[in-house]
Amino acid sequence: MSKKYVVALDQGTTSSRAILFDRAGRLVDMVQHPFEQLYPEPGWVEHNPQDILSSQLAALTELLVSRDVGPAQIDSIGITNQRETTVVWDRETGAPVSNAIVWQCRRTAPIIEKLCSAPEVSSRITAKTGLLPDAYFSASKIKWILDNTPGAREAARAGRLAFGTVDSWLVWSLTYGKVHATDVTNASRTMLYDIHENRWDPWLLDLFDIPASMLPEVRPSSSYFGETAHPGVFGGIPLAGVAGDQQAALFGQCCYAEGEAKNTYGTGCFLLMHTGAEACSSSNNLVTTIAASAPDVGHTEYALEGSVFVAGALVQWLRDELGLIDSAEETETLARSVADTGGVYVVPAFTGLGAPYWDAEARGAIYGLTRGTSRAHVVRAALESLAFQVHDLVHAMEADAGKRMRVLNVDGGASANDFLMQFQSDLLQTPLARPQNTETTALGAAYLAGLRTGFWKNTGELCDRRAGDTTFEPDMPDQVRDALLAGWHKAIGRTRTA
Ligand code: G3P
Repeated sequence: MSKKYVVALDQGTTSSRAILFDRAGRLVDMVQHPFEQLYPEPGWVEHNPQDILSSQLAALTELLVSRDVGPAQIDSIGITNQRETTVVWDRETGAPVSNAIVWQCRRTAPIIEKLCSAPEVSSRITAKTGLLPDAYFSASKIKWILDNTPGAREAARAGRLAFGTVDSWLVWSLTYGKVHATDVTNASRTMLYDIHENRWDPWLLDLFDIPASMLPEVRPSSSYFGETAHPGVFGGIPLAGVAGDQQAALFGQCCYAEGEAKNTYGTGCFLLMHTGAEACSSSNNLVTTIAASAPDVGHTEYALEGSVFVAGALVQWLRDELGLIDSAEETETLARSVADTGGVYVVPAFTGLGAPYWDAEARGAIYGLTRGTSRAHVVRAALESLAFQVHDLVHAMEADAGKRMRVLNVDGGASANDFLMQFQSDLLQTPLARPQNTETTALGAAYLAGLRTGFWKNTGELCDRRAGDTTFEPDMPDQVRDALLAGWHKAIGRTRTA
C-alpha cells in the first residue's frame, strides 16, 4: 500500500496533539490531549516529562486507531514543540532527574542576574546566540537542575545525564533511547548555541557550568533523526523533521524567503520574519534565531523574532475575570456593533510591556472611559490593542531588517476574527494572508518531514497550495489611522514607568 500520510506531533505548552496530513497537505484529523501544569511556587512552571510523553503517545495512538491507519500508510513523523522547556534525564535508566522547567518559569532570573548582568558578558551572549540574556531560555534552567537536584551534578560530570528540549526528549523516547539529537531551531533557543558558528559554545557552557557531554547532537530541521522503536507506537516509522513551534509555523506558512513573515495570535503573539542567510541583529530588542530550512538549502537561514506577551490572554480575561463576554467568538459581533471605541484604549501590560517598549514594571490600564462607555467599546478596544501591539512590533522589525513587510501571514486562534484581521491590515497598511489551514505549526513539522523523505518534492509545490488564502487589504483613511495610532502611543506613554 502506498504511503498516504505524514503525522505531525505538536507538543505544546498545555497540550500534546497528533495531526494527520495527506499528500495534498490537508488536515485529515487531529487528536489533542491536555496535560497537567505544575506551579510549585509563585512564578514557577513545571511539566512532568512522563506526562509530556504519555499525552503525546495517547494522542498519536488515538488518532491512528480512530482513522484505522497502519504503519504501511505512514510516510514519516514530524515533531514540533514548545521551545526552551528543559528536560534532564539519566541515559542509563531513561528516567528524568526532575520535572521539566517550562519556558515561562521565572525561577532562574537570579542566575541570569548574577552571571550575565555585566555589559561585556551580556553583549557577548547576544553576539553569539542572537538572544537577550533571560531566564526564558534553557541555559539557566539546566544549571538550576544540576545545582538543585541531589546527585545531578556528579552524574552529569560522569557523563550519565542528557539534556534536551522537548523535541529531543521525544526523539530519545520514540527511538527508545537510541538517538539523542535536536534540530538547529531548538538549539538556537538554549542560549548555549553559537548561531553563526553552528556549534555548542564552550565559553557559554563554561559560564553556566554545563558539561558538554549532556548536549544533544544538532541536526538540520529537515533530516533523518531515527525511527520509532518505542513499544507504545508502530515501529520503523522515520522521524524526519523537527522544529521549534514558532519556526515550524514560519515554515508551514511557506515563508521561505527573506522578508516573509508570520504572526501567530495565541495566548501571546509570536512574530517571525525570515531574513535569509543573514543573521540580522536587532537594535530594538528583538531576538535573532535560526529558521527551519528545506533539505536542499545547504546553509543556515535566520529569522528575527519578537513577542507580544498578552494577546488571546486578554480575551480570556474579558471572559473569565470581567465576565464581559461568554465566548471569544462574541468579541467580533460586539466590536462591530459600535463605530469605534469612543476614545477608549486598553493597554494589556499584565506582565509588563515587551518589545519594542521593554518595561517590566508597567501594568495594564484602560484609558478614556466616559459615562457613555459601553461593554462593546471596551471589548473593541481590547481587540484593537492586540493589533496596536503587533503594529509596533512589525515596525521595530522592519527597522531592524531594513525592509518593508510585503504581506503578513497570520495564524493562531484570534486570526479567525475578521474584525481584528481587517483592523490589523488597516493599521499596518499591509495586506494580511490567512491560510485555510491555520494549523500551520503542525503543517510546518509535517512539511519538514515529508520534504526529507520525498513525500513532497520541493517548497514550490507547497507554496502552490496557498491558493485558498483569505486576504485582508488595507482600507482606512490615513488621518483615521494616524489619529488611532497617536491615541495608542499616548496610552502607552502614560503606562510606561520609565
Ligand atoms: O517559546 C515558547 C513557545 O515555543 C511556546 O509556544 O504555542 O506552546 O505556547 P506554545
